Amino acid sequence: MPQSPFPWRSFSSSSSSSSSSANWFRGFFFIPTCLALNTFLFILFYISSTSTPNPFPSQIPTHFSYSSSRLVSSRNLSITTLRVSQKVSLRNGNGGPPLSLHQTQPSSPLPSFGRGNHEQAEGVFHDEELFLEDYKEMNKSFKIYVYPHKRSDPFARSLLPEDFEPNGNYASESYFKKSLIKSHFITNNPKEADFFFLPFSITGLRNDRRVSVSGIPNFIRDYIFDVSHKYPYWNRTGGADHFYVACHSVGRSAMDKSSEAKSSIVQVVCSSSYFLTGYISHKDAALPQIWPRKEDPPNLVSSKRTRLAFFAGAMNSPTRQELVRVWGKDSEIFAHSGRLKTPYADELLKSKFCLHVKGFEVNTARVGDSIFYGCVPVIIANYYDLPFGDILNWKSFSVVVTTSDIPRLKEILKGINDEEYAILQSNVLKVRRHFKWHSSPVDYDTFHMVMYQLWLRRTSVRLPLMD
Ligand SMILES: *[C@@H]1O[C@H](CO)[C@@H](O)[C@H](O)[C@H]1NC(C)=O
Ligand SMILES: *[C@@H]1O[C@H](CO)[C@@H](O)[C@H](O)[C@H]1NC(C)=O
Ligand SMILES: *[C@@H]1O[C@H](CO)[C@@H](O)[C@H](O)[C@H]1NC(C)=O
Repeated sequence: MPQSPFPWRSFSSSSSSSSSSANWFRGFFFIPTCLALNTFLFILFYISSTSTPNPFPSQIPTHFSYSSSRLVSSRNLSITTLRVSQKVSLRNGNGGPPLSLHQTQPSSPLPSFGRGNHEQAEGVFHDEELFLEDYKEMNKSFKIYVYPHKRSDPFARSLLPEDFEPNGNYASESYFKKSLIKSHFITNNPKEADFFFLPFSITGLRNDRRVSVSGIPNFIRDYIFDVSHKYPYWNRTGGADHFYVACHSVGRSAMDKSSEAKSSIVQVVCSSSYFLTGYISHKDAALPQIWPRKEDPPNLVSSKRTRLAFFAGAMNSPTRQELVRVWGKDSEIFAHSGRLKTPYADELLKSKFCLHVKGFEVNTARVGDSIFYGCVPVIIANYYDLPFGDILNWKSFSVVVTTSDIPRLKEILKGINDEEYAILQSNVLKVRRHFKWHSSPVDYDTFHMVMYQLWLRRTSVRLPLMD
């Protein structure tokens, strides 16, 4: 049999010669189909080779090889790290560092420093230039509408900003509302609002006898019912351009009786764990839990950090128990069960690393504490969606390990040499301003960082509001 000049025929004419005319007939259709397919593939190829994912070509030469390797590893990242501001990922193509890599892979090797990759060469931001540029834009144009309440409202205490200085473990919630109301982001014109703030205070409701912890979900359900019936704003997006802020972990169940709202509203909360049902990492935002502090410690920079690592706290989780079991008697890692007799601040100032160990919740005020006192935080809390992870490169100023790394903690921390430590610590000092509230908000402080996170989550296309 002569070899067919049309090799594709062999697909259809495997044996029978009587079918050769039918094959010819099929080929008759096959040729144009193939041509069409080729053209289509060519066009696809053309489009993909000419439209670079990087709209800022000047960045290609420096980032290209780097980002292509990152693109591969980013497959294993959690949703949140992938969601790093859409513009960030467009621009530098690397989608941010694998923030939670060590959290999600229990048998991780040493963290980046120990492994000697060049993470430390990067700054404290995923992309500083982009952040500063975006921030300016946000600062100029971002507008928030707050649902109004009268002083005479029976729940005014929980709905209006508190008139006292925020205090205690959950101060972040109260600071946010006070800062927002004073800020230039407020608008009285809902038509120009990017976001609508539901001003209920979870801490306030929790302390209100008429509501208390068990009544919060009902309160919120009724509140959302009222807002969505009285005003036209909610229905436009099903609540997607609405947000609330809570630091106490009971805020997580606030939406339990408003399931539709829960899946759309942006929850800005301290207890931001990937594995808690209340928190949806690609939609919600982590709020840092920060103990209010005024004066900077006088010896912040000069303090001699002679101790390798420090932890003290209640034994309210298996992780903490494990830490104290393994390191409780160690001379270099100080792991203390319960309250200290010495001042807490002194310990934070004389330690190189300060351990943030998950308790009941993944979050505690310890991350903010260690940053305030210039101590490099070590995050031992699996599945913690770290605050400002969209913006800050946590690997440049902290060490993130899994709870299963506890036995290797000393090895990991000692694997960080003096030079690497100096970089980590100077970066801690650089990010300090982002983990601080002020009575009157200051650029780049916690309030503005939260605003920026919200801005990244804004919805750009919505139905216009009717008069
Ligand atoms: C992703 O994770 C899997 C399993 O955890 C691992 O085998 C694989 O090498 C990882 N891929 C990358 C690119 O890191
Ligand atoms: C942000 O806006 C405020 C108020 O307009 C202004 O005073 C401040 O300088 C702005 N900050 C930046 C970084 O643009
Ligand atoms: C919003 O939608 C709900 C449910 O469909 C409806 O009952 C309510 O009246 C709507 N609100 C407004 C202000 O139209």
